[in-house]
Amino acid sequence: MSHIDTLTIVDHPLVQHKLSLMRDKTCRSQDFARLLTEISMLMAFALTRDLALTTQAIETPLEPMQAPVLAGKKLALISILRAGNGMLEGMRAVIPAARVGFVGLYRDEVTLTPVEYYLNLPADLANRQVIVLDPMLATGNSAAAAVDKLKSHGAKKIKLMTLLAAPEGVAAFAARHPDVPIFTAALDRGLNDKGYILPGLGDAGDRIFATK
Ligand code: URA
Repeated sequence: MSHIDTLTIVDHPLVQHKLSLMRDKTCRSQDFARLLTEISMLMAFALTRDLALTTQAIETPLEPMQAPVLAGKKLALISILRAGNGMLEGMRAVIPAARVGFVGLYRDEVTLTPVEYYLNLPADLANRQVIVLDPMLATGNSAAAAVDKLKSHGAKKIKLMTLLAAPEGVAAFAARHPDVPIFTAALDRGLNDKGYILPGLGDAGDRIFATK
């Protein structure tokens, strides 16, 4: 794959170690979900590195000071159902005031295009930093369609947070949304003929929610 400069791989050793535990097929659902929460908290550090700060007057027990606090409106976390929900707990643990929205998409088996079945978004997306949660960037179609929808609702500052990405998905998403930075814990080899990431970790939704 040619170099895509909107892609950031969060290669922190703790993230990489926890991801390897998740990939193992013997990892139990409860451990898988907990590890995804932990990785989300660690990745949040990279995703929020450039948030703007302002200052606020406070008083410590000793004296007044101008203390740094986050500027602007609360962030919006948008989960792409259902696997995106696996990243919500970790993100909300570190950004508890974030507004939360959901986008539900399924793939039409005939046209192979994403079809929206659920949408619930926070107000005033245009003035928020938006972080889209989707653990598996495989073909990139769902994430790109979700971002289309968010932009049509006014979102301007958007980042995509994934756990694993395939080169095909990164290329397709970046071509459609070159203004949206992509963060991932790993860039895997490619997709199989069913659209699963290789070596990957299987179906993220099934592994988080113990449905298979
Ligand atoms: N979605 C998943 O859950 N896993 C993949 O490998 C690809 C898409």
